[in-house]
This record gives sequence, C-alpha cells and structure tokens, in this order.
Amino acid sequence: MRKWMKLAATALVAVAVVGCSKKDETSKGLIGISMPSKTEARWASDGDSMVKALEKLGYKTDIQYAQYEVPTQLSQLENLLVKNVKGVIIAPIDGTTMADVLKQAKEKGIKVISYDRLIRGSKDFDYYATFDNYKTGVLQGQSIVDALNLKTAKGPFTLEIFAGSTDDNNAHVVYGGVMSVLKPYIDNGTLVVRSGQIKLEQVATPNWDGALAQSRMDNLLSAFYATTHLDAVLAMNDQIAIGVVSSLRGIGYGRDGSAMPVVTGQDGEVPSVKAILRGDQFSTVFKDTRALAQAAAVMMDNALQGKPVQVNDTTSYDNGAMIVPTQLLDPVSVEKKDVQKVLIDSGYYSEDRLR
Ligand code: BGC
Repeated sequence: MRKWMKLAATALVAVAVVGCSKKDETSKGLIGISMPSKTEARWASDGDSMVKALEKLGYKTDIQYAQYEVPTQLSQLENLLVKNVKGVIIAPIDGTTMADVLKQAKEKGIKVISYDRLIRGSKDFDYYATFDNYKTGVLQGQSIVDALNLKTAKGPFTLEIFAGSTDDNNAHVVYGGVMSVLKPYIDNGTLVVRSGQIKLEQVATPNWDGALAQSRMDNLLSAFYATTHLDAVLAMNDQIAIGVVSSLRGIGYGRDGSAMPVVTGQDGEVPSVKAILRGDQFSTVFKDTRALAQAAAVMMDNALQGKPVQVNDTTSYDNGAMIVPTQLLDPVSVEKKDVQKVLIDSGYYSEDRLR
C-alpha cells in the first residue's frame, strides 16, 4: 500500500473509532425490545416506531421478534438481560410466562414496560402502555349495531363471533367490551348466533391466526349457513377478518346478490383497509402504533431518569399479582368513509399503499 493510502486508511479508522466512542459516550444506554412476531404488520410497525422514538431520546436499541414461539421469546429476553440493557419493553406472546425472566430483570435493576399486552402474574415490572382494549371491543360491537341498524330494525340477524387468542389478556378485555354492546341484542333475539358458540373459549382463535379463523368459518358456514344468510361477523382483529372474508368469498358471498356480512376488525392493516375500500370488510379499529411506541419510549426514558411517569389508569389492569399503573391510548373506529381522514391525512399510510 502506498504511504498516502496507509495514512488515509489510518485516519479513516481513527475517525470511525472516535465516532463510535463519541456515540457510546452520548448514548443514554441500551434498551431491549421484545415483540411477539414480525408476521403481523402491526408488530413490525410498532417495532420500527419504537426504535426511532428511543433513538431520538438518546438510547441504543436491540429489537427481537419471537415468531409466536414462547420459548424463543424467553430466550431472546434472557439474551437481552446479559447485554447490559437499562430497560426492556415487552409485548408478550403469552402474558403468563414472564415471571422468571422478570425476576432476573428486577435483580439487575432493569426497568420493564409491558407493551400493548399485559404481563400477568408478576410484580417484577414497572408500567403498562396500551390502547383501551375494552373500548376497542365496544367500537367493534357498536360497528355491527350501527351497520345493521339494530336500534330500530327488528331482525333477527345472524351473527358469528371470532375472538383472539386466550393466552393474550387483550382478547379477554376486548371480548368484555364486545359483549357489553352485543349481549343485550343476543339475549333479546335480535342477533342470533346459529352455531351457539358465544363463550370466549368457544370462539377464540389461537395466536389470532387468520388461517385458523378461515377454517373455522368454513366449518360454520357449511354446518349452519347452507340455507341461511350470515349477516355479521365480529372479527376481533384484521388477521382474523381477512381469514373470515376469504372463507365467505369462497362460497359466493359478495356476489350474485349475496351481500357480504358486516365484518369488523382491529389494527387498520393494509390488506384490511383495502378490503374495507372494496366493501369486503366493514370496519376496523385503528390503533396508531406510532403514538403507542412514542408513549412507551417516553415512559421508559422518564422511569430511567427518575422523573414522574405519566399514567392515566391505576385501577383497571389487575394482572393477578398487582394493579399495574397503565397509560391508555384511544382507539378509533374506521369505516370506508373514515379512511382518508384517519389513515391517509394522518400520514399513517400513503394513498399509494392502499391502492
Ligand atoms: C393486539 C392487537 C393484535 C393482536 C394480534 C393483540 O394483543 O392488541 O392489536 O391484533 O394482539 O397480534
């Protein structure tokens, strides 16, 4: 190597080293992020927003996605704990599996925030940041009430219910909200669930898996709706809604005069928003993941800096070991008429992505 090249290379290495150590010196430390899976768009977008928000606040981040496998999530968390993290933000796959790993975190003085999904049966974490899950359920139920005009129409209308995964506390809370709206109509016969499957355990969808929802819908349609029109499907999230819509389309709903049932959802994922625009899905509940990620990042920063941490609910989220100080954000119902304002004008999606 010529002398000037050697000098230039040495200078470059020096700049890189100085650059690195400067960054390390100014960083407020490393925050671990543990997400359930990358297969659902919402967790990928939560993850991206959280990395951005934490980096803006001066932290480095290490983000892990567990592909819906509990042992993977636990070993990813254990690895994070030995990397000298200052804090960890966890959206658990199964909220009941965290106690041991959180004990280790507590012993190391690591701050922990339960993100979107509640950690259950442990006192060894600090805060919970989520959307108001009960309200999400109320909005889903209300969407069916409005679309079928249940306050005045006599019915009866047929309904089937597809809830989320019972290992996720959110499925229980959302179900409570849904039933607070729909149960009176089921009880007075305005809504008829021909399968008779109403209890959460009967209508749950393991891992909120759209393919499982699709095959359950196939079975229900052939067993109970061969000669009866299905009018509404309470689908607890968009993955489930897309599975349900495929099943319905498969047997001819949405054409030849057979109207699509009113199908609800949650998350505002792209395939569902497109389905709403073309009339296959009626509504979704939008939860702005940018805002939740930002809230959790600020909570973590304040907790680490010893500053007051903002929470707005200190009574609702009892995890079996403590009542968890919680910051609740507001979910928003989105029908076709709301897509422009809520999803495009807010910058969440570009118009192109929804075409
Ligand atoms: C979240 C939903 C999501 C579901 C499946 C729930 O805990 O609150 O937004 O659709 O998990 O990932």
